[in-house]
Amino acid sequence: MNDGKRRLLITGANGLVASQFSKMDMDEFEVVYTSRRMNRFYPNDQFYSLDIADARALTNLLDQVNPAIIIHTAGVSAIEYAAKNQLETHRVNVEAVDELIKWCSNNDARLILFSTDFVFNGVAGSYSELDAAMPMSIYAKSKLQAETLVLNALKDFAIVRTSLVYGVNHDLARLNFPIWLIGQLERGNSIDITEDQRRSPIYALDLAKMTLELAKSKLTGIYHLAGPQEVSVFEFASEVAKIFNLDGSLLRGVKTPEMPEDVRRPIDTSLRIRKACDDLNFSPKNVHEGLKSLRDEILN
Ligand SMILES: NC(=O)c1ccc[n+]([C@@H]2O[C@H](COP(=O)([O-])OP(=O)(O)OC[C@H]3O[C@@H](n4cnc5c(N)ncnc54)[C@H](OP(=O)(O)O)[C@@H]3O)[C@@H](O)[C@H]2O)c1
Repeated sequence: MNDGKRRLLITGANGLVASQFSKMDMDEFEVVYTSRRMNRFYPNDQFYSLDIADARALTNLLDQVNPAIIIHTAGVSAIEYAAKNQLETHRVNVEAVDELIKWCSNNDARLILFSTDFVFNGVAGSYSELDAAMPMSIYAKSKLQAETLVLNALKDFAIVRTSLVYGVNHDLARLNFPIWLIGQLERGNSIDITEDQRRSPIYALDLAKMTLELAKSKLTGIYHLAGPQEVSVFEFASEVAKIFNLDGSLLRGVKTPEMPEDVRRPIDTSLRIRKACDDLNFSPKNVHEGLKSLRDEILN
């Protein structure tokens, strides 16, 4: 079965980002997928169900698969859930990464770690890879801890910080922002959307393509893989309404303090992506193009 191809292990396989790889040409690799819950998309002989926080199960899987590269997207990814489940967040987002690091270090494997724009406090915005991180939430703190472990221990690695990912995750069972918004607008619901929070939204398939290029390369360090446009969440929502031909007047722009959020999100975590575009020779779609691709993907 091997054909001399390198093995690539993708964690968090049922998630939004990882599921994009199943839409891409991955022929160059022998790909193995793992996720916590049941296999939703993949051939059964390529999928392993596993709680990544179970160190022994994780090491057993790594020994069995023996990947040359690991793309690690799995993790507690919801800011509110992380705040309410701090121990689990630490086990999944930090301790599991520590296990991956040990295995990669002992087996000369390359690790691509997924992190977040929320490692920044959101005061300045337009962050480059050189700017100082200052996470405000439990979620973001766990991600920065994982980044630090990787930076201190590995030579062959890349850290991907991304921002507001949107796309189609097969059966659309997991809602990302535009998909949720489309449902609300179709039902005629009025919605409050923050006009002061700014992000760099990226179409998930572009993110997966950039990540694969990064994984294949010998590039190391931190990379901001996000969309090319820094927009307010309200501007993004308005563009969703336009592209999907829905009633944008149902959107009401509000300031962050007016939002009934359990955990405060940072205001402006827009990311500069020049380094990634140059090094990977790839230009991700802007908001307008990305949402049109999302629409085409949903309709086809
Ligand atoms: N989406 C965004 O806007 C965004 C923005 C910034 C950063 N990120 C980061 O990018 C990465 C990928 O994001 P995503 O949107 O694809 O996240 P996602 O849809 O929430 O997927 C994460 C996956 O991690 C898996 N997982 C969670 N806990 C696990 C455990 N204990 N053991 C094994 N697997 C576990 C889940 O698998 P099951 O479904 O099988 O339970 C889930 O499908 C995450 O690390 C996230 O923090 C995402």
